[in-house]
Amino acid sequence: MKKLLALALGLVLVLNVAAYADVVIAFSQIGQESDWRTANTDDLKSAIENHPGWKLVYDDAQQKQENQIKALRNFITQNVDYILFTGVVSTGWDEVLKEVNEAEIPLLLIDRMPDCADKIEYVAAFGGDFVEEGRRQVAWAGEYLKSIGRGDEDVNVVIMEGTTGASAQTGRTEGNLKALESYPHLKKVGQQSGNFTRAEGQAVMESWLKSIDKIDVLIAQNDDMALGAIDAIKAAGKVPGKDIIIVGCDSVKAAFDAIVAGEMNCTVECTPLYSRFVVPTIEKLEKGEKFSKTVVHPEEGVFDTNGGIDLGTVKSIKAADVISQRQY
Ligand code: AHR
Repeated sequence: MKKLLALALGLVLVLNVAAYADVVIAFSQIGQESDWRTANTDDLKSAIENHPGWKLVYDDAQQKQENQIKALRNFITQNVDYILFTGVVSTGWDEVLKEVNEAEIPLLLIDRMPDCADKIEYVAAFGGDFVEEGRRQVAWAGEYLKSIGRGDEDVNVVIMEGTTGASAQTGRTEGNLKALESYPHLKKVGQQSGNFTRAEGQAVMESWLKSIDKIDVLIAQNDDMALGAIDAIKAAGKVPGKDIIIVGCDSVKAAFDAIVAGEMNCTVECTPLYSRFVVPTIEKLEKGEKFSKTVVHPEEGVFDTNGGIDLGTVKSIKAADVISQRQY
């Protein structure tokens, strides 16, 4: 009888351990180059770490593709249950992502997409529509200039790009350049990478201010670079937001502050908050639901000084009216 009781107790224990066994979710993050990235990391980390029964294995690649490849192979060796992945650049992932597929670890793509996405298996992809974001940036400048009676004036535009080869850069550049075709008075006089960082944004703007006679509009492919450029513009004795119209991307809190202070004119949103998609997807997968290549581009806004600029797919919103809702 005693033996039977011990056996039953053992069985209950085993079942309990199975019921509470950790679901191990590995996350290969690019680095920490911007406020957007910090918000993205914090959002996913805290959602996974605070989820009962889930455990996070996190790797920060310090902007290096080779570190990401190493991390992905480590995740495979550890036999994690899920992999979240965003690639610093879009090329060069074919081999390692095929290895992830061969290990049958469900893959969730976040933010920047690899260019081999159609050749590999993944559960879902959650990220911004970068081409549309780039289009919105230039369209905002063109429509804003029309709204203040400068629509027929030739203006000089510089494009500050993100990390070369990242899908966030290639997509936004494609959108920027395509939209310029619809606004022939916007003349491109500079195009250079500021690597999505504040420091490099400042350095690129400093050199442009020395080498280009007149800059009327800055299109910065993220807010951090726009904020760095603002420091350079001020140091050169010019007034950001007035002498030079500044359009950023991401819509981080610091950009809202700069718009309200009159030093920046517009920011096109790209949300960093993906846990609201990732968590329910993994919960459903754990219950046996099947997904294959679900793609979600979250709805996003455009925020500026006064609101009301019509961009076709969206109308801008006055930043001051919504700044209190911005957490990052
Ligand atoms: O991939 C998203 C981009 O990466 C964000 O716009 C930028 O701020 C970040 O570093």
